[in-house]
Amino acid sequence: MARVEKSLATAAVIDWDVERIREDFPVLRQTVNGKPLVYLDNAASSQVPKVVIDRGSVYLEHEHSNIHRGVHYLSQKATTAYEGAREKVRRFINARDARECIFVRGTTEGINLVMHGYGRKFVREGDEIIISAMEHHSNIVPWQMLCEEKGALLRVIPINDAGELLLDAYQGLLNDRTKLVAVTHMSNALGTINPIKTIIDEAHKYGVPVLIDGAQGAPHMPIDVQEFDCDFYTFSGHKMFAPTGSGVIYGKQALLEKMNPFQGGGDMIKSVTFEKTIYADLPNKMEAGTPAIASQIGLGAAIDYLNGLDRDKAIAHENELVRYATERLSAIEGVRIIGTAREKGSVLSFVIDEVHPHDIGTILDQEGIAIRAGHHCAQPVMKRFNVPATARASFAFYNTKDEVDVLVRTVEKVIEVFS
Ligand SMILES: Cc1ncc(COP(=O)(O)O)c(C=O)c1O
Repeated sequence: MARVEKSLATAAVIDWDVERIREDFPVLRQTVNGKPLVYLDNAASSQVPKVVIDRGSVYLEHEHSNIHRGVHYLSQKATTAYEGAREKVRRFINARDARECIFVRGTTEGINLVMHGYGRKFVREGDEIIISAMEHHSNIVPWQMLCEEKGALLRVIPINDAGELLLDAYQGLLNDRTKLVAVTHMSNALGTINPIKTIIDEAHKYGVPVLIDGAQGAPHMPIDVQEFDCDFYTFSGHKMFAPTGSGVIYGKQALLEKMNPFQGGGDMIKSVTFEKTIYADLPNKMEAGTPAIASQIGLGAAIDYLNGLDRDKAIAHENELVRYATERLSAIEGVRIIGTAREKGSVLSFVIDEVHPHDIGTILDQEGIAIRAGHHCAQPVMKRFNVPATARASFAFYNTKDEVDVLVRTVEKVIEVFS
C-alpha cells in the first residue's frame, strides 16, 4: 500500500519500457475498425501474455488429464502442475499454507463459497453483515440472499462525494451482532483504494472476520494476506493476465476448517456411505468435482510472468497513466470524473453532459478503443452519484500515454458530434 501511495504522489518519468512489455501480449497487435486496438477495459478482463497462452497449450498437448485420482503418468503430471499453481498463489499473496488457497472460478464464486460455507453455518436471525456502498453486485447479492434466508440484516458503510468510505460511520455500524464485514480492496466503478488494514483491525476488535474482494486489488498492488490479517481474500484470474475460469479464495485455515464445504461431490471426501460422508482435508474439502485445471495452471503461469516484472515500476506506470488521463479528461468542458478519492487505482469513470455513456462507448469503439459503458455491476454506486451509467477506462501496465491521447481526442470528437 505504501508503495502505491508513494507512486501516486510522484507523477514522474518512470523507467518502464512499455513497448517491450507490449510485445508479450499478442492480442494488442491487432487493428479494430481499421485502427490500432486501444485496450482500456482491463478492469473487466485483462489481456493474456504469450507465455501464459503457451503454458495452456503445453497442458492441453502433453498433460491433459484429470487430477488427484489417477496413478498414471499424465494424471500425475497434471496434478503436479495444478498443485504447483496453488503454491505459486500461496507465495504471491504470502499465505501461511497452500491449503488456505482454494481454487474457484473467480471472485464471484469465492464470495459465494464464504456465503455458503461460513454464512449459512454461522449467521442467525438478528445478526448483521456489513458491506460498503461501493461494492460490486457479487459482494452484495450473496449477502442479501443470506440475510433473507436467515432473517439477518445487511448494513452498508456510506461513502462521501469523492467515493471514499466514511470510516466513522463504519465504526458506528460494528457491534456484537456483526458476523462478517465484506468490502472491496479497490472499487471497479470508482477506482477508490480502501484502507483495508484499518477496516480489518476495527472488525477484529469485535472478533468479526473480514472478507476482502480483491478482484481489482490483486492485479494492481502487492498482496500480503498475513500483513493485512484479512480472514478471506478473493480474486479472479481473468483480471490478472490469466485465463477465465481461474481464481482463488484465500481463507485462514482455522476458519476454513470450521466452515461447511461449498459443494458436495467427488474429490471433496475421505469416505462415503449412505449413512455418512467424511469430508476431505483442506483444500480438497472446498473443491468438489473436476476443477478448471488448465485455467488454474494458467494462473500459475501468469503469476510467474508478474514475478518476472519489476512490479513497483509496473504499478507506478499504471498510476501515472491514471494521473495523466484524469488531468487531460477533466480539462475538457462537459466531462465529469466520477470517483475522485485521494487513493485511487487504475480505473477512471467519467460522464459527459447530455451524452449517454453507451454512445460514448460506441463512438470510441469505432476508433478501435475498448472501454466499458454501463453500471459496472455497481448500480448502488450509480444511484449514489445520480448517474444512470458511466464510461470507464481502466489501465494495465501495457497501456501507453499515446493511448490516453487517442482516448482524449476521441472524447473531444464525441462532444463535437453531440453539440
Ligand atoms: C470489484 C469486483 N468484484 C467482483 C467482481 C466479479 O468478478 P468475477 O466476474 O470475475 O467473478 C468484479 C468484476 O468486475 C469486480 O470488479
